[in-house]
Amino acid sequence: MRLSISITVLASVLGAALAKPEKIRGVSDPVYHLYLQEYPKDKSTAVLGPESSAEYFNIGGTIQSANTTLYLNVGNDSTSYKTLTFGTTASTKAWGLEGDTIITTQGSTWGRQLNFLVCKLDGNYWQLYLQTGSATPSGKTCSNYQTIHLPCLC
Ligand SMILES: *[C@@H]1O[C@H](CO)[C@@H](O)[C@H](O)[C@H]1NC(C)=O
Ligand SMILES: *[C@@H]1O[C@H](CO)[C@@H](O)[C@H](O)[C@H]1NC(C)=O
Repeated sequence: MRLSISITVLASVLGAALAKPEKIRGVSDPVYHLYLQEYPKDKSTAVLGPESSAEYFNIGGTIQSANTTLYLNVGNDSTSYKTLTFGTTASTKAWGLEGDTIITTQGSTWGRQLNFLVCKLDGNYWQLYLQTGSATPSGKTCSNYQTIHLPCLC
């Protein structure tokens, strides 16, 4: 009995330790196989962009870049779409995975959400927002109801 509990604890500790950073990507046009990263122009705005500049992330409560050590945080916008930025402190601890899909968790400020809005910036970059409803900003080229995923469950 005691032995089996120890093995269970050891396995879960090892599992957490062995989980490796993963890329996160869009899967539908216009962000099909564009990858999560900071916008090079301000090094803060979260965007989907080229695979060549993709960052790797540790996911679980927070989403932290293994490349920059910055955390992905949800803004306090009053609109249904919430700005996502990278910062040195983790103000958002609501991130989780459902299969290979990035979500905010049920008990969080936003509830369980898996939709994102993307809006075109310069170059092959799309600004990423968490979408809690259906609104979109006017005067921008956007695509609603995107989801973002790990490349594979491996
Ligand atoms: C992020 O780190 C990974 C793993 O070390 C590396 O392959 C990748 O090129 C890095 N990305 C950037 C944008 O530096
Ligand atoms: C949103 O507001 C909370 C509470 O005031 C704050 O801790 C957090 O840093 C804010 N988030 C951002 C991204 O500014």
